[in-house]
Order: sequence, then C-alpha cells, then structure tokens
Amino acid sequence: MGLVSGLEILAAARAGKYGVGAFNTNDLEITQAIIEAAEETRSPVIVALSEGGLKYGGDALVALVRYLAERASVPVAIHLDHGSSFASCMRAIRLGFTSVMIDMSHEDEETNIAETRRVVEAAHAVGVTVEAEIGRLGGIEEHVVVSAEEATLTKPDEALRFMQATGADYLAVAIGTSHGPNKGKGRPYIDHDRIREIAALVPAPLVMHGASGVPSALVERFRTAGGEIKDASGIHEDDVRQAVTQGIAKINTDTDLRLAFTTAVREVLRDTPKEFDPRKLLGPARDEMRRVVQTEVDVSLEKDGYILVGKVDLLLGGDGKLELLDFKTSPRPKDSPELIAAYERQLCTYAHILEQRHGKRVDRLLLYWTSEPRKADALMVLPYDLARVEEAGRHFDDAVRRIQAREFAVTTPPEPAICKECDLRMLCRSEGIITMTD
Ligand code: 13P
Repeated sequence: MGLVSGLEILAAARAGKYGVGAFNTNDLEITQAIIEAAEETRSPVIVALSEGGLKYGGDALVALVRYLAERASVPVAIHLDHGSSFASCMRAIRLGFTSVMIDMSHEDEETNIAETRRVVEAAHAVGVTVEAEIGRLGGIEEHVVVSAEEATLTKPDEALRFMQATGADYLAVAIGTSHGPNKGKGRPYIDHDRIREIAALVPAPLVMHGASGVPSALVERFRTAGGEIKDASGIHEDDVRQAVTQGIAKINTDTDLRLAFTTAVREVLRDTPKEFDPRKLLGPARDEMRRVVQTEVDVSLEKDGYILVGKVDLLLGGDGKLELLDFKTSPRPKDSPELIAAYERQLCTYAHILEQRHGKRVDRLLLYWTSEPRKADALMVLPYDLARVEEAGRHFDDAVRRIQAREFAVTTPPEPAICKECDLRMLCRSEGIITMTD
C-alpha cells in the first residue's frame, strides 16, 4: 500500500468519521515505531516532520521515512508539520513529501490566504495535498472563554471563506487544544460546539493539533525515573472521540512520543548503569513509542456505533490474484452512498498501487464492516474494472497520475452479503479467499 497523499487517507477518514493519527518523527526509532504500530493495527498513518525535525535529520531522515513508508503494508503519508514559508513547503515537496502544511495562521487573514493559495497551486500541480490553519492554537482556561482568547479560536465563517479562497485540502482548527505537555488545568476544555459549527460549513477533513493525551501513568514513570515536568495535562480520550465524530480526521501527536521515548531511556539508564550499548537504550524506547501509537489508535476505536478507525488489509485470492480488503470497525453505514463511494475510491487507489508493487492483477475488491475484531456484520464484493472511468476528486487524480493515467471504474455495488456474528476468516473462505496469514 505504502506511500499516498495526505488527502487520500483523510478524505476517507472524514467521510467515514474515523480519525487517523499523525505522529512526529525525528529519527529511525520513532519512524519504525509509528509505521510498525500502524501495520500491527492495520491502520493508515501520517508520519510528520517539522522544520526542526528536518534540520535535525536532514535529507537522510526523509529518505529513511520514504523508504519505510513505501514498503509499508498500510497507507502512509509523509507530511511537513507547520511549514513556515512557501520555500519550506517547496523544499519538502522536492524531497518527496506527499503532504505539506503551510502555517500562516499568525499573519493577517489576507496574507494567510495569499500564501496558502500559492502553496496549494504549486503542491497540487505535483499531486501533493495541503493542510492550512486559520485561528491560532493556544491554551484556554477550563470552560472560560474570554474575548482575547476567543480571538484565537477558529471562527466557522472565516474557516469557510478561507477554504474557498485557498483551495487547501484539510484545515487545522483552533478549538481549545495547545501543543506540549501542559494543556490547561484539569481536563482541558475542548470547544465541541465550534468543531460542529465549522464542520457543518467546511466539508474538508479537519485537523486537531495538540492532541496528546499526556497519560498520567507515563508522566509518573517519567518523574520516578528522575524527569521533571510541571502541571502535565493532555486531551481526554473522550474529547478526541467526540471530535472525530464531528469532523476531525487528522489527530496530531508529538508530546506523547517524546515522553515515551525519554521515559524508557531514563529507566534503562537508571536500572542498568553498566549499559553502554545504544541499542539497549533505544530499543526499549522504540517499544514504548510503539505502544503509544497503538493506544492512540485504540482511542479512536469503534464506540457507540460510530466508525472511527479505518483499517486495510491485503488478501490473496486462491487463484493467486490479489484481493483487497478494506476493514471498517463499524456497523454498515446503510444510508450513506457518499461514504461507500469514498471507500470505493480509496480501495481503487490502493488496488492500483498494489498492482504496481506486486506485479499482480487485482481481481475483486472487498469491503466489510465489523462491530468487533474479526467479526463481520456485512461484506460487499465490489467489481474492479479497468475499462471504465470513474468520476473522481483530486485525491483520485493523484493516484491516476501515479499509475500513468490508466483508467478504472467501480460499478454500482451489489447488496452486501449479511453475515451476522460470523468469523471473518470463515467468511473469506466462503468467498474463496485465502488470507495472507492462513
Ligand atoms: P502535542 O504537543 O499535543 O503532541 O501536539 C503535536 C502537534 O500538534 C504537532 O503539530
């Protein structure tokens, strides 16, 4: 599946009301932790590098991230976090990023629009998708919104105007979160009404920056191992869940990985003073970060009937042809042709990438919904027809560009085979499909 644009991942997430994690990396171990955890949980993921990360790791770090992303069995986008200028975004694009953020949110609206549009035009020309920001992130006191602080939060009408004027693909919104380990006293206040109002006007995927949970158990271990941190507080997982059901599709996390990394290194140094093999320090740090990524994915797991996590899996047909399975932890969204169409586009995009990578022909596309792991509530077998052309959005154009303009289409899906409570593997067998792990 490997490397895809940010919008390919996020358009399906917004349509399907599930969240995709964007995790910041600075080195080999962090990147491995992010991608391995995404593969283990069968989830798409966004690997983000800030300008500071790029300065630290240089072009070699980007090449490393690309290397791992291209070989991943789940879709991965490489994203520039908080690009501060047109030049910075262009450098990232030249290095092979598939998604960039231009952050001009500290400028006046006119400048923000003009600079964002400049980046969008250049990025779209080469199939890269763009995040922009309006409003400004910052901590606000719990449930107290005073006018000075109100001015920093994203206003729904401005968000709409901004997206229409810039053509950006996804929008970072200021809704009460802030970067770092101190997000406010008690449970930080998240302005859910604001998210709902913005989402009602802006159909693009919305982005939550500053989403780290700063888990108290991790903070405690950090302190016990000699670390110092004051007033640690993060975003409550219920707030992330609720935000995701309202339109947030990209969930940015950096602090939790930093905390996990440093805590594990501190513990090894404390417990094994004779150790001087860097791998013995960095290996446990990588494991700890992998757990953080897995937990954050779990946070967005299906709850109260909402679809919150998209998962993808590759199956091999009995005749050696590839079958592609898209795995959704949710009851089937019966009333949403729009959602099914988004899944179809996503599946076709992945199918094309897979065909290229494995040199095999994709035969059928499978889409199923589950209410619990390995149980299938409904299965749809979708035909995959290269001879016909599908109407598509920009993210689809990107895939088409990548496969040198070959055309493909999906015909109207048949009614799904309902298979309540049945085991997924059995269901696949009954369809004549052998899973990779069989
Ligand atoms: P945290 O500091 O909460 O991890 O947020 C990271 C972030 O938003 C990166 O853009």
